[in-house]
Amino acid sequence: MTVTSSAPADAPTPPLAARAAAIGGSPVRDILAVTARPEVINFAGGLPAPEFFDARGVAAAYAAVLAEAPGRALQYATTEGEPVLRAAVAERYTARGLATGADDVLITTGSQQALSLLATALVEPGDTVLVENPCYLAALQVFAFAGARVVPVPGDADGVDPDALDALVAEHRAKLLYTVPTFQNPSGRTMPAGRRAAVAAVAARRGLWIVEDDPYGELRFEGERVPWIASYPGAGDRTVVLGSFSKVMAPGLRLGWLRAPAALLRACAIAKQAADLHTPTVNQLAAAWYLEHFDLDAHVARVAGVYRERRDAMLAGLPGALPAGSTWNRPEGGMFLWVRLPSGYDATALLPGVVAQDVAYVPGAPFYGGAPEAETLRLCFVTQTPDEIAEGLRRLRLGLS
Ligand SMILES: Cc1ncc(COP(=O)(O)O)c(C=O)c1O
Repeated sequence: MTVTSSAPADAPTPPLAARAAAIGGSPVRDILAVTARPEVINFAGGLPAPEFFDARGVAAAYAAVLAEAPGRALQYATTEGEPVLRAAVAERYTARGLATGADDVLITTGSQQALSLLATALVEPGDTVLVENPCYLAALQVFAFAGARVVPVPGDADGVDPDALDALVAEHRAKLLYTVPTFQNPSGRTMPAGRRAAVAAVAARRGLWIVEDDPYGELRFEGERVPWIASYPGAGDRTVVLGSFSKVMAPGLRLGWLRAPAALLRACAIAKQAADLHTPTVNQLAAAWYLEHFDLDAHVARVAGVYRERRDAMLAGLPGALPAGSTWNRPEGGMFLWVRLPSGYDATALLPGVVAQDVAYVPGAPFYGGAPEAETLRLCFVTQTPDEIAEGLRRLRLGLS
């Protein structure tokens, strides 16, 4: 029997979904692709310093779980996550003053997945999502994919302005506020306690979800820890806290979580089932084993000490590297600082000349949910040694002149 097809051989395939077609590529991403060259000193990447991954500890953890419970470690598992890891994550919150039970935690495949799950569970196409300005880029992408109207909330060096937030929630009947209140990506800024209380109060009064994304909070070099927004009056039942082992253990493990009220957590678990069934069992068990047998906090304190030296090396070199009239901040932790070149400078337009000197930053423009501020840029200060940072800043001066 001969099977014939009625379709012409060269019929085009159907188009991409509108949401994928609309998002498209990024010219900055194309320029930064060349920064993978080993000779480039890459302040753009946002990568934790790999020499401080505890490879031996992590290897011991994998060896132990594969020796002790191979049938479990290599098996399917529940969508919510391995109970032992959920309990360990919950304990870390409770120890830091935010009472949390294992059932309040959903383990996710990186905290990036937690963002996608929240968008699926909370955001209808056309809903308004309020974001910081500037905002973590991949969160903007998640909300765009969900069909949200993204509206930036004006703010200052302390984060979003609570009065502006109040007005925008009322005007747009916004559903959620997305914020990285501690050592923000991209700006490195931290929202002080009073501001957090005010944001919590607005959310409670207006009926707003808060998504409090906190991958950097443990990387504090100096100053006092500021409590999570979730711990302020009115915020507890409407705040989702996202966390991650990416910046304190290793991003390749792809282990994050969300801490959410029960009904929202259940909705996220159903969304996760559709996305990937569960986060790899062996990774979860290895992380739990690591937490039980090693002192993660001591490890993080060592890493933070090194990051502090690197931040200081960058702060020491910036005055000689940037044009007169530039300003920048001095984060008390995290991985990034934020530069404002003098007015009239355009960090995107300057990037090709900078990359030609074998150094790179990320222009600030893509981080803005609204009109971009062209003279801004983000520098990651943790990936290189102080000597490499000094050399990178020497090249940056050449690239900007
Ligand atoms: C603010 C913020 N949220 C979430 C993530 C995602 O982290 P991961 O998925 O590795 O936990 C990042 C990564 O850089 C980030 O900067």
